[in-house]
Amino acid sequence: MTDTAALSVHGLRVSFSGRPVLKDVQFEVAAGEFCALIGANGSGKTTLLKAILGLLRPQSGEVRIEPGAAGARIGYVPQKISIDPYLPLRSRDVVALGLDGARWGWPRRSRADDARVQEMLEAVGAIEFAERRVGQLSGGQQQRVLIAHALVRRPRLLLLDEPLANLDVRSTAEIVALLRRLSAQYRTAVLLSAHDMNPLLAVIDRIVYLASCCAVSGKADEVIRTEVLSRLYGYHVDVVRVHGRVVVIAAHEPEEIRAALARDPVHTAQVP
Ligand SMILES: Nc1ncnc2c1ncn2[C@@H]1O[C@H](COP(=O)(O)OP(=O)(O)O)[C@@H](O)[C@H]1O
Ligand SMILES: [Mg+2]
Repeated sequence: MTDTAALSVHGLRVSFSGRPVLKDVQFEVAAGEFCALIGANGSGKTTLLKAILGLLRPQSGEVRIEPGAAGARIGYVPQKISIDPYLPLRSRDVVALGLDGARWGWPRRSRADDARVQEMLEAVGAIEFAERRVGQLSGGQQQRVLIAHALVRRPRLLLLDEPLANLDVRSTAEIVALLRRLSAQYRTAVLLSAHDMNPLLAVIDRIVYLASCCAVSGKADEVIRTEVLSRLYGYHVDVVRVHGRVVVIAAHEPEEIRAALARDPVHTAQVP
């Protein structure tokens, strides 16, 4: 692990019922870096994030978080949570709950806690819906509240699992810009998973690309190349730039990929 790494993953192997999902995954995220974890549905993004969080035990390998930042200091926004519209929790309450992770018993809030919650609500642009029930907010508004919840204890590392899924184009751009700004402002390293890299390419410092149970990482223009991704997938893929988007297309898809794409019509013409 280099001195400046916020996260270092080394030789990580995770299997379910003997079937490997991650075989030998290795990468680092530097302090304050804004990093995308890209892979098709089922490529192991959630599995990797859970292994980093210590929520599942790898067969082998090592995950190291920046010294001084114990497990509780990782912020986490999980994939797709649906919130009951009648849940009697306001946005402000949800952010305040983020303070309680390391405490015992009934929460007692100090004035400093209240100020911190207020500051986070402001930082994510959630003041105008701070007193509304979270279950009644739009997807983009809920995402802002969950980001504030995850950041309120000022972690050195923030993990977000598909925070852009289910957002419209405008909310996607707003959330990406917000995360980029917060990452710089708080010097928090961000690792954000997504199955579409396009909304992220212009702003990320680093990409970790998952396919065939392995990962390559580096600057986007080093990784998103025909020869690099073909080596990773284990068969020929083409990186194609069309209408301002980057798509990765397999010329001759192996049978298992074809079957997966058939189940997921959104990705018919691209992997991922
Ligand atoms: N708890 C589990 N038990 C068995 N298989 C699992 C479990 N969690 C994930 N998987 C499998 O591991 C693979 C990767 O899943 P996941 O990490 O959720 O991918 P992604 O988040 O990239 O869509 C999938 O084939 C999935 O079915
Ligand atoms: Mg997932």
